Amino acid sequence: MSQKLLLTVAQGQKGDRTPVWLMRQAGRYLKEYRDLREKHTFLETCQTPELAAEVSLQPMRRFDIDGVILFSDIMIPTLGMGVELDFAPGPVLKTPIRSVSDIKNLRVCDPHEKTSFVLKTLQILKSNLPDTKTLIGFCGAPFTTACYLVEGKHSTDFSQVKKMMKDEPVLFHLLLDKLSQTLSLYLKAQVEAGAEVVQIFDTWTEILTPKEYLEFAFPYEKKLIESLRPLAPVILFMKKSGDFLTQAKELDVNVFSVDYSVSLSHAREVLGDNIVLQGNLDPKILQSGTKEEIKRETLKILNSMSGQKHIFNLAHGVLPETPVENVSTLIEVVRNYGK
Ligand code: CP3
Repeated sequence: MSQKLLLTVAQGQKGDRTPVWLMRQAGRYLKEYRDLREKHTFLETCQTPELAAEVSLQPMRRFDIDGVILFSDIMIPTLGMGVELDFAPGPVLKTPIRSVSDIKNLRVCDPHEKTSFVLKTLQILKSNLPDTKTLIGFCGAPFTTACYLVEGKHSTDFSQVKKMMKDEPVLFHLLLDKLSQTLSLYLKAQVEAGAEVVQIFDTWTEILTPKEYLEFAFPYEKKLIESLRPLAPVILFMKKSGDFLTQAKELDVNVFSVDYSVSLSHAREVLGDNIVLQGNLDPKILQSGTKEEIKRETLKILNSMSGQKHIFNLAHGVLPETPVENVSTLIEVVRNYGK
């Protein structure tokens, strides 16, 4: 049996226990991250390979997790497209992308040119990871990345995006197409640099109706997944995925990361036995639950997926207020399950 449990299971093979890693496992809930961020801005941390690699490794030093995810952000590849960007703490653009000329000015860029620091970070990580740990690369899906470009900042309702989908769909497709090309090159370069599994985040499918999902998210997820599948196993995460499961079945993704809108067993029923499911403990339980609650909810998920293709994760990222001991409890329960 391969020593890289997460990679093995992501490839659809059997492992001798359930692998576990957590979305946003690096970040503000860790004191060592907050300490580093006192000296360096978020963007500087992402753009300096030694710092980004250090932050990526921080969770592995505390917890016996099976995967290490590149520390970066979904907006980083847009820097190479010519977007001027900062973080406060969410992404903030100097100028939102809303007109034909804004979109025409975006470059489909070679990831080795403007985002070589990401590739260098992966190379450092690859050479420092124990051979039991899997290195995870990632990007945002075209739709979710476009949400920030059009809105210009984090938004609760993404009203500008909704307006563009309704009034200027052709324009929005032009942007999505350009992003698809860039993100495909970007993820392929991550695999070349050492990423063994890649995750695509399509968080803002949350705001879409099933019809809009079909028009603005699904085709671009599909293109991106198809371009990566020959190279590495692909994990897809979306929010409100329960509404889109039947359609998502056609994506032919290796791993489907389930959010809190749907149970793992329902996802299994719709998506079939061959796909690997990832998820889906509610991050609020991890943040606020007692030790007993965390154990109970974690075991519930493990029992429901027992004997099936499953990677343990949260339903969304670790929340900044999460106590570190709660994460230790979760990881221990998963690692000791069935022993
Ligand atoms: O999972 C990991 O540990 C890797 C790191 C990672 C970050 N962002 C670091 C980050 C990943 C995978 C992301 C992806 C990301 N970024 C998504 C998709 C996943 C999701 O959470 O839905 C989205 C939508 C973004 C956009 C974004 N970046 C937001 C909304 C924010 C602010 C939210 C927050 O947590 O404060 C960011 C900034 C950001 N990205 C931070 C981190 C650790 C906080 C920066 C800081 O102040 O230190």
